[in-house]
Amino acid sequence: MLNSNFPISRTIMVASWNNKTTADEVAEYLSSEIKDKNVLVTGVSLGGIGGEAARVVAKYGNLVILGGRNQEKLDETAASIKAEIPTANLRTLILDLTSLPSVEAAAATVNSWTEPIHVLINNAAVPTRKELTLIEGVEVQFRSNFVAPFLFTNLILGRIKAAASADFSPRIVNVGSSAHRFSPVRLEDYNFTDGSYNQFVGYGQSKTADILFSVELAKRLAKYGILSYSVHPGAAWTPGALAMKPELIKLGLIDEDGNALSASVDEFKSLGAAAATHIAAAFDPSIKDQSGSYLFDCQVRKDLVAPHAIDPEISAKLWALAEKLLGKNFE
Ligand SMILES: NC(=O)c1ccc[n+]([C@@H]2O[C@H](COP(=O)([O-])OP(=O)(O)OC[C@H]3O[C@@H](n4cnc5c(N)ncnc54)[C@H](OP(=O)(O)O)[C@@H]3O)[C@@H](O)[C@H]2O)c1
Repeated sequence: MLNSNFPISRTIMVASWNNKTTADEVAEYLSSEIKDKNVLVTGVSLGGIGGEAARVVAKYGNLVILGGRNQEKLDETAASIKAEIPTANLRTLILDLTSLPSVEAAAATVNSWTEPIHVLINNAAVPTRKELTLIEGVEVQFRSNFVAPFLFTNLILGRIKAAASADFSPRIVNVGSSAHRFSPVRLEDYNFTDGSYNQFVGYGQSKTADILFSVELAKRLAKYGILSYSVHPGAAWTPGALAMKPELIKLGLIDEDGNALSASVDEFKSLGAAAATHIAAAFDPSIKDQSGSYLFDCQVRKDLVAPHAIDPEISAKLWALAEKLLGKNFE
């Protein structure tokens, strides 16, 4: 069934996007949507998916805010983008997701700026931990990949609301993963005190939380005209993925050349193709009636998301848990 809101050419174009479509191609097609927009992307190190998404947005957007924990790496990414796109308007923002004071300081900095934020892409994720690790009593991936972005997003919500208008709905994109299938959010035992922790279930729980975060944001922020989506970028050999390669080989999930050997591992794609879904979730107007959805290969894919990651009752409970852990309430 064709979407009657858009010309047929647009419907066909979006439907043709697949695992080879690059962020450059999606951004070029959506350049009129990206034009004049201010976009904040976290985790933008070179070689990573966030850095690639920031680079393509910088071609057409008004301002790209590069968020990350290391100033040298932020400067490196900014210099690389500037070398390719001299007109790029970039700003860096120190944000360490393992430190809630750092998240609060970053939010205060964003709130001191006058520009509205049209799109926030919560892309950063901490390296997975083989051993169960707690920070201030909470498992580090759950805390850094979900609780910290939850805090950051809510603290800068005023800047995001300021971008809403009759013609434009701001968007919050949370980067999940197909690894969400490895674990639901364990609302009663997010620290795996039952001894069942391994790096895959720990990562999986945090990515399930990211997907549920979009479900809940979509519900709560619809009244402000704000949309939210989660994405699975697909598998790509970024620094984070390369760090896991020996373990994946050991488990027989991939071969030495990085080819998937198990149905639980996605076929690897290029960095450009991995970042493409970030851009589609952030700007594709044809999905505006599907806020809260999960995207893969630039398409909304209800069939690929596990029930435990999309249940609105669970997303409400997760919101309450994040508030309890932070000792703060948000609207
Ligand atoms: N690559 C894949 O196959 C794949 C598959 C599914 C989902 N994903 C998701 O895609 C997103 C990007 O992953 P990627 O593969 O591009 O990973 P990556 O190469 O490891 O990039 C992760 C980014 O997060 C940053 N980061 C790490 N710890 C941080 C902290 N404490 N505070 C702030 N930033 C921090 C990293 O900065 P540093 O450089 O300073 O460490 C880096 O910029 C993640 O959410 C990941 O879960 C990736």
